[in-house]
Amino acid sequence: MKKTVFITRQLPDEAVAPLRERFDVDMWGSEDEPVPRDVLLEKAETAHALWTVISEEVDRELFGRAKNLEIVANMAVGYNNIDTEAAKEHGVAVTNTPGVLTETTADLAFTLMLAAARRTGQAEKALRAGEWKSWTPMGFTGQDIFGATLGIIGMGRIGEGVARRARGFDMDVFYHNRTRKPEAESMHGFRYSGLDDLLRRSDFIVVLTPLTDETRGLIGARELGLMKETAVLVNAARGGIIDEEALYDALRSGQIWAAGLDVFEEEPIGLEHPLLELPNVTALPHIGSASIKTRLAMMKLNAETITDCLEGRQPANRVV
Ligand code: DGY
Repeated sequence: MKKTVFITRQLPDEAVAPLRERFDVDMWGSEDEPVPRDVLLEKAETAHALWTVISEEVDRELFGRAKNLEIVANMAVGYNNIDTEAAKEHGVAVTNTPGVLTETTADLAFTLMLAAARRTGQAEKALRAGEWKSWTPMGFTGQDIFGATLGIIGMGRIGEGVARRARGFDMDVFYHNRTRKPEAESMHGFRYSGLDDLLRRSDFIVVLTPLTDETRGLIGARELGLMKETAVLVNAARGGIIDEEALYDALRSGQIWAAGLDVFEEEPIGLEHPLLELPNVTALPHIGSASIKTRLAMMKLNAETITDCLEGRQPANRVV
């Protein structure tokens, strides 16, 4: 009897083909509609492997029902959608997709810095709405990136990628992280900073830390109050790290200049969400790792870890 794999989102044939040769593969039939919870639970009851995306809650209830489950392969570097404690207790391996998405996600974080600072979304919207009447001396003026100070919160691989890009823009780079990165400091001149100092001195603040119990609500009203009035805040990590109500107040009152957000507390964000009313918010639908090459590379890693685990080898990129 072949082992079974349930894939929670429709993926390209080329990504799934290596698994079909070895296992019974069952796949949810939509690329954009998440699998309903009851279907996920039912499939998990018999599956040996689950290949998930970040919108699935892989929680204690699921692990309790999944009697055959050996591995959950999550198509993301972040895995806050998975109860890792419960996975450990049930002896299920959990893998993610680090490394392959570093540069693509760093590109997107930088895109958000540029777009929010230079108001490109707002300007394009005005052009398309027929509001471009003439060249305007102070029209759509924004903040300079070149030569500015960048503060990175969460100096993992992606943080370092953003910091490296910033050197090309002659930016001064500070970072805050649980552990210091002596190599990045000596090799590139990035400087470590306490969180409050980083918030006070930075023109651009980019959040790239994982969402954990420690980082939930890390940037709230107090932290926003420390930032410059010209500051641009970017979140390319996870919603929940920045308090959205406090952010709304800070952006509306002009306490900070702009925000570039790829992630939200609730995804997809509702169209009635107050943040979307603000012209100084650049909002994207969680596309940090969304290049064709990178998404296929993430899928390849997932397929390899599933194959290794189900065939009795140690899978790479285990987080549990
Ligand atoms: C990740 O990898 O964690 C991203 O947020 C999903 O693309």
